[in-house]
Amino acid sequence: MPAMLVLGIESSCDETGVALHDTQTGLLAHALHSQVAMHQEYGGVVPELASRDHIRRTVPLLRKALDESGRALGEIDAVAYTQGPGLAGALLVGAAFAEGLAAALGRPAIPVHHLEGHLLSPLLSRRPPAFPFIALLVSGGHSQLMRVDGVGQYRLLGETLDDAAGEAFDKTAKLLGLPYPGGPALSALAESGRPGVCVFPRPMLNSGDLDFSFSGLKTAALTRVREIGEPDARQRADIARAFQDAVVDVLVEKSMRAIRGSGLARLVVAGGVGANRELRRRLDERAGRANVTVFYPELEFCTDNGAMIALAGALRLQAGLSLKPAGAFAVRPRWPLCEPAG
Ligand code: KG4
Ligand code: ZN
Repeated sequence: MPAMLVLGIESSCDETGVALHDTQTGLLAHALHSQVAMHQEYGGVVPELASRDHIRRTVPLLRKALDESGRALGEIDAVAYTQGPGLAGALLVGAAFAEGLAAALGRPAIPVHHLEGHLLSPLLSRRPPAFPFIALLVSGGHSQLMRVDGVGQYRLLGETLDDAAGEAFDKTAKLLGLPYPGGPALSALAESGRPGVCVFPRPMLNSGDLDFSFSGLKTAALTRVREIGEPDARQRADIARAFQDAVVDVLVEKSMRAIRGSGLARLVVAGGVGANRELRRRLDERAGRANVTVFYPELEFCTDNGAMIALAGALRLQAGLSLKPAGAFAVRPRWPLCEPAG
């Protein structure tokens, strides 16, 4: 197949991402705008503000990515975009823009599953994993263990029964008075917390399956805060530490169990929580002892970005999957990864 230039557009939540991917040479350029500063004063993502901001950012980001790549708009062979899951209004902005542009260019559009983007994001790194692998997908909306046999071949092994790990980080951070998004802030605070001063349960550690539950940890943190009354900085750090240690323990244990059950020796960690340093440290330690190699996306591709959508689009294009003529489209705010595209 000749080299194809794929544009990728991500707009499922609070980041607008645009990237250009060449099927032969790889990622050419990516541009990102984070809305974190805008949503911060509300303590979380305000969907309507998110949609409006995506509208403002998409064209300037596309211009920037084109400039950086040295390629022209007319050279684009296909336009990939996040079709779901995510915020309906935010998804509609990216989808409408992508489909409109694809129609104007007379090129196909490629609707992409956001989690597929995360799953494949380690392939953007200098040392990409080969298929098949086990993936621990830990984002703000999802916590799943999957078996990945190839592009479009995903089998769900286990998932959270309530809050996602990132969501639990965000909620616990909020009750400790930390700014949104809570994950990085809580993780930074936990670094100064004392181990073992405060100990939280390890939910579902011995459930015998690969499912998770994180909402109880947020309650454990709330209960501890109430017991203390007004925790000082040191006590807040201890609570952050206890929370992070519990989440990381469960994620590491279940990931290793999934690896053992699969007989594979490659583990991929993707999604925003994959940026967590303690999770990386502990996984590397456990995996090292078991002769398992852990692959992480580059830090900049752990959280939402256009590069992973352009990559997923390029791989789908090469595999002849999900190409559609530009035009009528729908977004899928709720969309299980194992359900077929379309
Ligand atoms: O993958 P992502 O950017 O968005 C979704 O698709 O949900 O993940 C965002 C989530 C947020 O919950 C954020 O708090 C969390 O990832 N996160 C972290 C860290 N960096 C981001 N959680 C723990 N430690 C971090 N260093
Ligand atoms: Zn995401």
